[in-house]
Amino acid sequence: MGLGVIDVPTFCLEGTVEEVFYKKGLPKVVILKTVTGTVWIKLEKSLRRELAHPPKVGDRLQLEGTISDKYDGWVKEYKASHLEFLATAQPSVAKRSQPCKVLICQKSSCCRRGAKELWQELEAQQLPIALKATGCMGECKRGPAVVVLPHKKRLTRANAQQIRELVCSTEA
Ligand code: FES
Repeated sequence: MGLGVIDVPTFCLEGTVEEVFYKKGLPKVVILKTVTGTVWIKLEKSLRRELAHPPKVGDRLQLEGTISDKYDGWVKEYKASHLEFLATAQPSVAKRSQPCKVLICQKSSCCRRGAKELWQELEAQQLPIALKATGCMGECKRGPAVVVLPHKKRLTRANAQQIRELVCSTEA
């Protein structure tokens, strides 16, 4: 007597990252170029959160997970629960030698608007960035005021998601 266990098809693919799409500051979909073609792979939510750093274009990855049918079988959805970095993209490694610096105003107006919490959130996310406290940037009513280097991007009412996207999706 079987227990009616359904066999879920699984995959294990190796390839090079062609693109990464983000949602709420976390990598959601990776387009992977494999020897047999290009595959869209969705990352499971738990995997998105546990990644020490997001994959980037040019990285070589191994992804494992399950395949399910969507839209009456017209589309196969690849959902990864495990990701392993096999090699890091060389050009980006070179760029990382100039790490991102995030300057966050820590004066009273910005702190009332969440600058301290923003700092703590960024610290907890362990992004490859250096945080630096600054004085007033003249954006007191639109705090937290932030500058991201080397992008030289000024942000007002900044949140962790904006900063993460800036740091992770486009390497300056
Ligand atoms: S207090 Fe932060 S910009 Fe003025």
